[in-house]
Amino acid sequence: MKSKSKLGGGLWSFGTKLGLPAVFLLCSFFFLAGFFGSMLLSQDESDVRPRPRSLESVNEEKDFDPMPHGETGKDSVMSVPFQVLSWKPRALYFPNFATAEQCQSIIKMAKVHLAPSTLALRKGETEDNTQGIRTSSGMFISASEDKSGILDLIEEKIARATMIPRTHGEAFNVLRYEVGQKYNSHYDAFNPTEYGPQKSHRIASFLLYLSDVEQGGETMFPFENRLNMNGNYDYQKCIGLKVKPRRGDGLLFYSLFPNGTIDPTSLHGSCPVITGEKWVATKWIRDEEQDE
Ligand SMILES: *[C@@H]1O[C@H](CO)[C@@H](O)[C@H](O)[C@H]1NC(C)=O
Repeated sequence: MKSKSKLGGGLWSFGTKLGLPAVFLLCSFFFLAGFFGSMLLSQDESDVRPRPRSLESVNEEKDFDPMPHGETGKDSVMSVPFQVLSWKPRALYFPNFATAEQCQSIIKMAKVHLAPSTLALRKGETEDNTQGIRTSSGMFISASEDKSGILDLIEEKIARATMIPRTHGEAFNVLRYEVGQKYNSHYDAFNPTEYGPQKSHRIASFLLYLSDVEQGGETMFPFENRLNMNGNYDYQKCIGLKVKPRRGDGLLFYSLFPNGTIDPTSLHGSCPVITGEKWVATKWIRDEEQDE
């Protein structure tokens, strides 16, 4: 009882000493700080996944007049937003690259044609002694085979984002990883000293995530920024830069340096799915045109 009245008196004397206007000002300050602080925070949240999504974002910069364009150019200014995830390897993230509906359609068309994914084999490797390295299922489909036109739109957008003509792309490889399935770390480029002479080389890989994955299933770059490159890296281990799949988002990374040699930091893998299912459409882009 005694301490309670003492506390009350203390607060009151604090108020009277400073004067009521000062107390009022202080209260207002904290109220406003809280108000704007929470506004900033909630804005951050909605920035992570802006909706609605659309594939085309044309003439967003209204005050930018398009330039006269060449025969093969476009008459509009477009923006394909991306985030640089890393320079070592060169990796970019494209939020909202495709719509949820487009992703759903691609899954639907691929689902009925899935077969166990295969590996390109090095000298001395067999299907038996490489079992377990890549445990997903997949199928190949080219844009021209997709009568809905969705893969055509996406391929066109990938070409625009990379400025590498679509004729350089392999057919889409649509992959499904179920719980426990993964792809140990590997290079997408084939080193001729390991794989023999190559007709052309994979420059870059574009991954379009078709599903959210509740847990696991990240794309990992264990050597990002030249880390873990001491020769002791266990190729099954899920470490380094990890990219969590989000439906409709794209990931682009380069396997080759500008001078055409393999970037050792482009080593990457798919962490095992822990909960949920991972679907991804991969487009490998080569240094030479591909025959259809
Ligand atoms: C190619 O470029 C990389 C990265 O800049 C460099 O480390 C490497 O020595 C170059 N290789 C050749 C053969 O020029």
